Order: sequence, then C-alpha cells, then structure tokens
Amino acid sequence: MKKYLVMALMMAIGCTAIAQQPVKLPAPNPLKASKMSLMEALQKRKSVREYSSKEISLQTLSTLLWTACGYNRPDEKRITAPSAINAQDITLYVCMKNGAYCYNPDENQLDFVSAEDLRPAVAGRQDFAKQAPICIVLVSDLNKFRSPRAEFGAMDAGFVSENICLACTALGLATVPRASMEKETLTKAFGLNENQVLMLNNPVGWPK
Ligand SMILES: Cc1cc2nc3c(=O)[nH]c(=O)nc-3n(C[C@H](O)[C@H](O)[C@H](O)COP(=O)(O)O)c2cc1C
Repeated sequence: MKKYLVMALMMAIGCTAIAQQPVKLPAPNPLKASKMSLMEALQKRKSVREYSSKEISLQTLSTLLWTACGYNRPDEKRITAPSAINAQDITLYVCMKNGAYCYNPDENQLDFVSAEDLRPAVAGRQDFAKQAPICIVLVSDLNKFRSPRAEFGAMDAGFVSENICLACTALGLATVPRASMEKETLTKAFGLNENQVLMLNNPVGWPK
C-alpha cells in the first residue's frame, strides 16, 4: 500500500526520474468500487464533456483499466472485451499531466511512454478534453490479425470504449468516446508503427 502512495505522490509532484519506472497498479476491485448494476449504468450512461480538476486515484484507475480490457479469465488469458479472432489488439495509452503510460495488464502496471503532457494532442480542437485528469487512447495493433484489418481494429476499439463508458458511469466518473485527436503527434509520441492505429479516446474525470 505504501508503495502505491509513494508512487502516486511522485506522479502528482512530477518526479520524472521515478515516474519513468513502471507504475505498479493496486489490484482492481470492480465489485467493491461499482456504485450501480449494469442495468442502471445502461440507463445512466451519457457523454459528459465537463470534468472537475479532482485527480483520479491509482485504485480507481486500476479498476477502470481492468474493466476496459483487463483479464477476467486469467487462466485462459481472456479479457473483459471481445475481439475479432481473440486478437486482443487494443492497447490503452493513459495520458496524464506528468506523462503518458501504456497499460500492461500482464503485470497490472503502467509502462512509461513519454514524460510529455499529451492531453492537448488528445484534445485537438476540443479544449474540454484536456481538462480531464486522464485521457485514455485506444490503439489497435493490426499486426495481431492474420492480415491487417482496420475494420476489425475499429470494431474492437468500440467494445473497449463502451466498457470504459459503462464502467465510468458505474464508478461515478464522467467520459465521452471521441474519434478526434491529433493523430500525427500522438503516433510519434507513442512511437507507433504503421499498423498500430489510433482509433478512439476517452477523456475521464470526476463530474463537475
Ligand atoms: C465513434 C464515435 C466517435 C465520437 N467522436 C466524438 C468526438 O470526436 N468528440 C465528441 O465530443 N464526441 C464524440 N463522440 C460522442 C458522440 O457525439 C455521442 O456519443 C453522441 O452525441 C450521443 O450522445 P450520448 O453518448 O450522450 O448518448 C463520438 C462517439 C462515437 C461512438
């Protein structure tokens, strides 16, 4: 527990040397954290484009990332979101004030990607998005299909993004799925190759 608190503090004060190490996440706790049933979440889900500046804890982030595409059948290495031919092609990039990280569900940790605040690039022309403490960017690795199939990647991203939308509602968080973002800037900053395609993003924050 102490380790997570130290890491959260380091990230909050922008201690880059430490934050460049992988950030271990607390175990997700979806059943404990959820404030409502799936049916209620479906009733209440909506796109929200205004967020408070309150930070999101690593515990809540861990739970949210798990709902998106974490292992729900760890023995079979299967995840919460379905994917074409079980390619599990969607990787989540988590952009925050003090840098960008890649969600690594195998280790339940965030792997360092960039020390830059990439939220403005995720926001593009929609300023509201950079006010969110966290912007999750969904990237499909088309190399995971037998031959690159952009439509499979787009469909798989839709499932993951909907998981995020419903989980946010259930956790009391606010989000909106977005296709707009500065793709060229993010492709470079994340170090993506031509078959790793930016599909969608979800800015996430507490409602204002
Ligand atoms: C594939 C997709 C792309 C979207 N892109 C954006 C976007 O770039 N910016 C934005 O503000 N909303 C975006 N939205 C959100 C839609 O505008 C929103 O879902 C729609 O107006 C319905 O509202 P609701 O989500 O509250 O039901 C997108 C939604 C989807 C499914």
